[in-house]
Amino acid sequence: MSFSKELIKWYLENKRDLPWRATKDPYQIWISEIILQQTRVEQGKPYYFKFLKAYPTVFALANASEEEVLKLWQGLGYYSRARNLHFTAQYVAFELGGRFPTSYKELVKLKGVGDYTAAAIASVCYDEAQAAVDGNVYRVLARIYGIDTPTNSSLGIKQFRNLAQTLISREDPANFNQALIEFGSEQCKPRKPLCASCPFSAQCVAFNQNRILELPVKLKKQKVKTRHFNYIVYVSDEGRTIMQQRLGKGIWEGLYEFPLVETATEASQQNLVQEVSAKYSITGKEPVLFNELPIIHKLTHQHIHTKFWIMECSELPENALSIAEVNKLPVPVLIEKFIDTFDF
Ligand code: ADE
Repeated sequence: MSFSKELIKWYLENKRDLPWRATKDPYQIWISEIILQQTRVEQGKPYYFKFLKAYPTVFALANASEEEVLKLWQGLGYYSRARNLHFTAQYVAFELGGRFPTSYKELVKLKGVGDYTAAAIASVCYDEAQAAVDGNVYRVLARIYGIDTPTNSSLGIKQFRNLAQTLISREDPANFNQALIEFGSEQCKPRKPLCASCPFSAQCVAFNQNRILELPVKLKKQKVKTRHFNYIVYVSDEGRTIMQQRLGKGIWEGLYEFPLVETATEASQQNLVQEVSAKYSITGKEPVLFNELPIIHKLTHQHIHTKFWIMECSELPENALSIAEVNKLPVPVLIEKFIDTFDF
């Protein structure tokens, strides 16, 4: 039996019943694939339901504000996905009359839709034979075919995509792509693959050469940078506070946070007093540290060491917000947790 036939047979016998597998609607498939980039299925599922409930059509999403979309996305991370989702919804709704492009070539032009997502939508919704290669697929192919080209090198990306493209079923590309992803996720798992029950173990190079944990090969990640964030939580007598939006490129773009003082090393109260008065003109009492131990928030390339400093003030500027207003803003999870524990 060919690789694709064997794989699809495994899929039909083993696949999970996932909500986006019951539809070929490009809007729903697009939403699911954007959510599932960099997100585990179990974490992504509630967001998929939440999004389709709030925005059942591309027009509903297009007519929402970016802030609302970011609020719904809160907790999923990689927020540029949400901003691009909103941008592309507006493009599809207002420029294309609500109709998604129907080919890989056109889909890949949409903002936030890369090679993988375009291939996933084109195959699932329009039965176009385009291989969708994600981390699961790299692992399966690297092991079965014994490929040690780094999966995050430009040569590796081409090589794996070409191989997947030669293997894809021309009769059933939708199930082939889903099957390869599912096989990587459920059978050919990263650390404990289920080789004893694998239909490909006889031909699997990694299994036969005892190299399962060596493959796939990935180039070393860039070094993790440590940053020190000090959030100044102004609190007025009426329990109002100041929030500001993060602008520019970088983490949490578009989300809201308390006024921030970033320091090169962990800040003491003394150097914070100077930094705060130099940066912000609001007068209040001395900042009082809320958390003795910095909270460490880990992102892919940076660890954010965070301290919250409370500054009581008798008066705050006009733009100060009540806690009810603060709760409506999209914020990083780190800030949300603080707001939930602090009594304004
Ligand atoms: N990961 C990315 N896309 C997926 C899908 N459609 N089903 C399951 N896991 C996925």
